[in-house]
Amino acid sequence: MLQHKIALLPGDGIGPEITSVAKMLLEAVAKKNGFEIRLEEMLFGGAAIDKTGSPLPQQTLENCKKSDAILLAAIGDPRFDNYPREKRPESGLLSLREGLELFANLRPVSIRPSLISSSSLKPEFIKEVDLLVVRELTGGIYFGKPKGRIKTNDNERGFNTMSYSTSEIDRIAEVAFELANARKGKLCSVDKANVLDVSQLWRERVDLLSEKHPKVEVQHLYVDNAAMQLIRNPRQFDVLLTSNLFGDILSDEAAMLTGSIGMLPSASLGSQGPGLFEPVHGSAPDIAGMNKANPMAMVLSASMMLRIGLNEPKAADDLEKSVDKVLAEGFRTNDLHQEGFTKLGCEEMGKELLNAL
Ligand code: IPM
Ligand code: MG
Repeated sequence: MLQHKIALLPGDGIGPEITSVAKMLLEAVAKKNGFEIRLEEMLFGGAAIDKTGSPLPQQTLENCKKSDAILLAAIGDPRFDNYPREKRPESGLLSLREGLELFANLRPVSIRPSLISSSSLKPEFIKEVDLLVVRELTGGIYFGKPKGRIKTNDNERGFNTMSYSTSEIDRIAEVAFELANARKGKLCSVDKANVLDVSQLWRERVDLLSEKHPKVEVQHLYVDNAAMQLIRNPRQFDVLLTSNLFGDILSDEAAMLTGSIGMLPSASLGSQGPGLFEPVHGSAPDIAGMNKANPMAMVLSASMMLRIGLNEPKAADDLEKSVDKVLAEGFRTNDLHQEGFTKLGCEEMGKELLNAL
């Protein structure tokens, strides 16, 4: 029997709760579809700092590299807010992205039919939204040098550098062009070329590459305008190509079109090796351990992993269908709850998803 080896990183906050749900569903969906799945839990984030002092222990990184795919729940824990940057959980995530060269972050945003009324935008604006944020993930201001803090006698300065090379721009733009080609054929590249040199280069490279992809219609938007257009008329977008920081911001905004950030999965891919699949939401420390989390983004991330990372499209469909079925039956977690629906905890929602499978 075909066996897939998965590195499972529960991480912090609500991470372990939503991981239990994903585990249960992955085992069930594997059985149903006739393959085997081996889930190996590993230390990562705050949980790893507690045990080893590092948010990404060497052993976790090595084991991730040897797996077929990585499924991560969430990291981040306010207990470490005052730790030096490299000792914080977030640095573990950045090192994992860097260590596996996961330069392409795909964040699809589509509206699940049962949730149209959960969005803060009017239904007519969001009902046909189906867009994909393609965010560069291993460069830009997140990794640029020089960076740091300099103290002088009576002042202190903090600084980071937003920098991209042509090869970094080309490889992420190529991913976005190919995806646009396979979707509705529209690519919107986001930059701040009216102010930033790095964005001017970005825009030039995207234009140059567009000659190779004549079927894709290319548009450039300044990031401030893109933020506005996402709220004004999100249906106009197909693929949104962004740098690391702009994509971080716009993908949270785009996520909220769906009503809850608790619904959105993501994939981080390199040119080879295992991909990393994780919900877009964070560790939600305020509700950690209270059985209130929405496990659906995690389940949909597992579905993305099955589809893109493990080539198991049928099993991926099964997980997505179970999410839609449970929503159509009127079950909601706290984040999506409205009058007239049945409110469930994370664990109970997991059981309903399993029943629906
Ligand atoms: C995300 C998160 C991360 C990021 C944090 C946790 C480092 O916000 O994946 O969007 O900024 O990339
Ligand atoms: Mg973010």
